[in-house]
Amino acid sequence: MAELDVETARWLVSTAGLAAVAAATTQLDDGADELKVATDLSRRTSHPERRSAALGAAVARRRARQRWPLAEELLFTRAALEQASDPALSAHRAARLVATLGRSPAAAATIVDLCAGVGGDALALAQAAAGTGAPVCAVDDDPARLVLLAHNAEVAGVTVTPHHADALTFPLAPGAVVHADPSRRRDGRRVRRLADHLPSVPALLAAHLRTGAWALALSPGVALDDPDLPADLEDLEVEYVQLGDALVEATVWLGANDGGRPATAAAGATADATGAATGAAAAAPPAQPAGPGSHRRTRATLLQDGEVVASRLGSPATRTRLPVDEVGSVLIEPVPAAVRARVHDDLGRELGAWRVSAHRALLTCDVSPPPSPWYRARPVEAVLPARPKELRRWLGQRQAAGTERPEVELVLHGVDADPAELWRRLGRPRRGPHGLRLEFVRRERDIVTVVTRTCGMVGPDG
Ligand SMILES: C[S@@+](CC[C@H](N)C(=O)[O-])C[C@H]1O[C@@H](n2cnc3c(N)ncnc32)[C@H](O)[C@@H]1O
Repeated sequence: MAELDVETARWLVSTAGLAAVAAATTQLDDGADELKVATDLSRRTSHPERRSAALGAAVARRRARQRWPLAEELLFTRAALEQASDPALSAHRAARLVATLGRSPAAAATIVDLCAGVGGDALALAQAAAGTGAPVCAVDDDPARLVLLAHNAEVAGVTVTPHHADALTFPLAPGAVVHADPSRRRDGRRVRRLADHLPSVPALLAAHLRTGAWALALSPGVALDDPDLPADLEDLEVEYVQLGDALVEATVWLGANDGGRPATAAAGATADATGAATGAAAAAPPAQPAGPGSHRRTRATLLQDGEVVASRLGSPATRTRLPVDEVGSVLIEPVPAAVRARVHDDLGRELGAWRVSAHRALLTCDVSPPPSPWYRARPVEAVLPARPKELRRWLGQRQAAGTERPEVELVLHGVDADPAELWRRLGRPRRGPHGLRLEFVRRERDIVTVVTRTCGMVGPDG
């Protein structure tokens, strides 16, 4: 059942509804609990569904404040806010999609947001398209959400035309530029398979594949070899996007690149805004089998404070695996977007690094690498067997030699162990983030403990 019916949505955007949401927000800000706010709302309206909608919008508004500059005027339902893209992500996607307009054969092609919700992405698309003459239409099968979307567009001062329709059958003009953010929840439960999204991703692509450029927002858990992504499209790119430290999305792009395959590692396929991590390539390792999905074009993008700080392309040529060898004097942990986009071997190649294990995206080398947003590098203090007794002895010796008891963090790389039990067996050393890390790494034949130091670390927060 829809969270909000269309009549209630119409009331919510009316003067009376907006006043009720504002009053409820102020009360919550002042510390009133939801029950008290709901009771007080009954003085404004006798309709229980209106009271519930106003309270929901007030709760959502308070949550939206950290991310939406216009939150005090925007309207969300609780679920619609949860489903809305982060504004920084929306702006990034919108800018990239709108940039394809110049390449569209249809003059002033329409931009269509196929699962628009209350408009998080549609507003960003309209803002990015301002001045291009391209109209933006927003399609959703929930008419109540579209009522809120129309209000939100007015607040943001943009023009978006809402269409109440099924995204699978909505008629798209030839050359239309398409954005879609299908729901990753069905009957209140998170779904993984693309065919279980609402609407189904393979059905959506099958219905509209022949249009112009596409941006399809999916979970970052989507694998390159997902069988529900078209296998044979040359121009399909999967972009893994990180916001700060958090991997937040995989965006599937179609027709969004300006032609040609991405440059290979040898040609320097990196667009690092810091200019870092572009050192001389190490001797090429022997080529390894690349694995499923490896024909796909990928991109890793790092966003910080709404800006792209680094973006890097991946292709079959950049995906040849580095050789595995013993742990060197530095441990290098590529950021999640680099790993998901499988550009970490290529990064390592530029640093003269090698892998610690064939199955872990953990690299190592003997020279401290330059600062870069693409990885964290930590000096290695020792490489020890993963036996608590020996680790305890080593920590004791270390403490005896130094003036202070080192603070210790535990990190498990592919090791299935109970951290609480491990902690107990290590004699409960002092816990803390600014000292030593005991990094348990699963290798092909054993587990090893790499002791690293967090001060002297190279990386975004080193
Ligand atoms: C993840 S939300 C979109 C959020 C939106 N991008 C935002 O940032 O605010 C997915 C939306 O898809 C809509 N939806 C689900 N199935 C649909 C269908 N078959 N046709 C049109 N819209 C659909 C839902 O109503 C929901 O609003």
